[in-house]
Amino acid sequence: MEERFDDSRYHCVDPEFQDAITRYSAEVRAVGRADHRAGQLKVERSMRNIVVTGGAGFIGSNFVRWVMERDDSVLITVLDALTHAGNIHSLDGLDGERLNFVHGDICDGNLVRELLASADACVHFAAQTHNDLSIASPDEFVRTNVEGTFALLEAVREAGIRFHHVSTDEVFGELPLDSSERFTEESPYRPSSPYSSTKASADMLVRAWVRTYGIRATISNCSNNYGPYQHVEKFIPRQITNILTGRRPQLYGDGRNVRDWIHVDDHSSAVWAILQEGEIGETYLIGAEGERSNIEILQMILAEFGLPRDAFDIVADRPGHDKRYAVDASKIMQTLGWRPTHTDFEAGLRETIAWYRDNIDWWKEEKEEAEQRYRSLANDRRRNREQDCWHRT
Ligand code: NAD
Ligand code: TYD
Repeated sequence: MEERFDDSRYHCVDPEFQDAITRYSAEVRAVGRADHRAGQLKVERSMRNIVVTGGAGFIGSNFVRWVMERDDSVLITVLDALTHAGNIHSLDGLDGERLNFVHGDICDGNLVRELLASADACVHFAAQTHNDLSIASPDEFVRTNVEGTFALLEAVREAGIRFHHVSTDEVFGELPLDSSERFTEESPYRPSSPYSSTKASADMLVRAWVRTYGIRATISNCSNNYGPYQHVEKFIPRQITNILTGRRPQLYGDGRNVRDWIHVDDHSSAVWAILQEGEIGETYLIGAEGERSNIEILQMILAEFGLPRDAFDIVADRPGHDKRYAVDASKIMQTLGWRPTHTDFEAGLRETIAWYRDNIDWWKEEKEEAEQRYRSLANDRRRNREQDCWHRT
């Protein structure tokens, strides 16, 4: 699928640019091989042309920005379907000479084969990611998260390139609320929702493709991310933008559910470290010891706006709502020397609030649509509950 955007800062796959990429990566590959023989080269020298799937989403766009701001020799091709969660403006301000944008679907086997054929590596963020939507309409989650990953794996197999699969700690299911237990790379997979089960399925495909076909892949399972450019349907941006638009924050159930928060830049640096130094076939858990209950975070947000601690609504809980997630990131710290740098959560949250205050144009249109979706989800759930009662009587 090819499409040209009006915005001239972004390229689409055009033959001229594709030629440049092919020439460029051929040169770098040659350098890489020569230096490698001399034993002087770090793996990253052969990864100059990277395809980033889902690069217009929250974490993908932050990753693209993070990499491009740190290494001006990397060329990135973003492949993104621009679903409701993707936003081309999340890539604003980046160097258009080094950023190629392809509007397309990861399930399109021909397209991904064509793109990966001239790449050195693919970092796979694209997914359907919202638990609430996955409960209402799981079909698209199976298609993108499972079939899309399958299409990429087949293209990776053909191109013989390095692949990093971005997954979530939610594949391990929930932990008890009052315990110190944390997920490790050895934790059993116990996904609870259509979202986490499709991510778990994708992880399994990646593992099987490494073992059976010997593809060069790694997997990371990260905890909950926060930071700029996160879609307003997710917990932290939803509450901030509710307040900014005169709505009351919405808390599910009793608000005691715990998530382990990490700043999105720390996720990016971890993925980069794995891409550079990670061992093929290995899984790495990423987390920053940021456990907080939902109510605790909501009250921090309310305090930041100078609002009373109880200025929110308690709403019906999410079906199958996981109680607690917590990640033990010892492996990536010990083997790759990675460390999170945004360790002051309050400061990170304050910056995130300031970002949403300063970037209303980025989210205002999506806000109305997201809240409309939430209203239909609530109506559907109410209808389902009534039907259940009716069937039982
Ligand atoms: P997001 O929903 O903000 O972005 C997903 C992106 O993928 C969007 O730009 C969307 O347009 C694109 N996309 C969706 N379907 C596609 C398709 N069929 N073809 C091409 N592009 C498609 O998600 P996110 O929060 O940035 O998450 C990115 C990845 O990180 C996901 O794989 C997710 O499972 C994982 N992850 C997220 C978190 C988190 O807290 N958000 C934590 C751990 C892991
Ligand atoms: P979310 O951002 O959807 O991420 P995930 O479900 O992947 O962890 O939700 C984070 C937590 O916040 C989760 O426990 C559900 C809760 N939540 C609310 O209490 N209110 C809301 O409006 C939303 C969207 C989530």
